[in-house]
Amino acid sequence: MILGISASGRKDGITSKVVKTILETSNLETEYISLAGKRINGCIGCTRCAADNQCKVEDDWIEIGEKMKKADAIVFGAPNYKGTINALGHACLERTFCFRHRGVFNLAGKLGVSVSTSYGKEKEDPVHLIIKRIMSSNMMAVIDTVSAHGYSQCYTCGYGLDCEAGNIVRTHGFIEKIEEEHYPPCFEGQDDTVFQVHKTGKLLDSILRNKA
Ligand SMILES: Cc1cc2nc3c(=O)[nH]c(=O)nc-3n(C[C@H](O)[C@H](O)[C@H](O)COP(=O)(O)O)c2cc1C
Repeated sequence: MILGISASGRKDGITSKVVKTILETSNLETEYISLAGKRINGCIGCTRCAADNQCKVEDDWIEIGEKMKKADAIVFGAPNYKGTINALGHACLERTFCFRHRGVFNLAGKLGVSVSTSYGKEKEDPVHLIIKRIMSSNMMAVIDTVSAHGYSQCYTCGYGLDCEAGNIVRTHGFIEKIEEEHYPPCFEGQDDTVFQVHKTGKLLDSILRNKA
């Protein structure tokens, strides 16, 4: 089973589309989880997981952690917030601390894919560094990364046309009205991202079928 996780606070944002499309392209059994609206605390370092590799913090992560353990591969997508991974995504990954104690690595050998979204679609997005580092610390094998152009809140906040600090004025100057051509590309309009997403889905399919 391939587990796809979108860590975005937006249920149907770009991160979720990228993760879901990788799952669909793989043609294998998949499960998808959006962290939007979920209550996920960061690790509190209590070490009560040391004896049995079970996190004792009671919140929505416990069920997600169980699904991670069952998966053969994890596609983890998170948006870039303020130059790094968003808090929800980091909290979710931090909690995998419980999966590596006393030489027992519960996620060892699972395949990993890192997905990031940001305004500028950064290939070397710091978000990837964090996802890859945490997957590697869990002895997972990171096989691919996908970066996508993100959504800009300035287009829908209601103040974007006049806000000098915002993305609309910074990109297009003071315009009268937002027209189609002003919007950042939606996922379907990003040919290079869509291509990469399909390649990644097929790669997962190929590796997991070979293993089976
Ligand atoms: C609080 C916040 C901070 C952000 N900071 C950055 C940033 O520093 N760099 C960047 O490229 N994009 C930044 N973004 C844009 C997000 O990465 C973009 O909206 C992305 O599409 C969000 O993912 P989603 O579409 O799945 O919700 C920020 C968005 C928010 C809401």
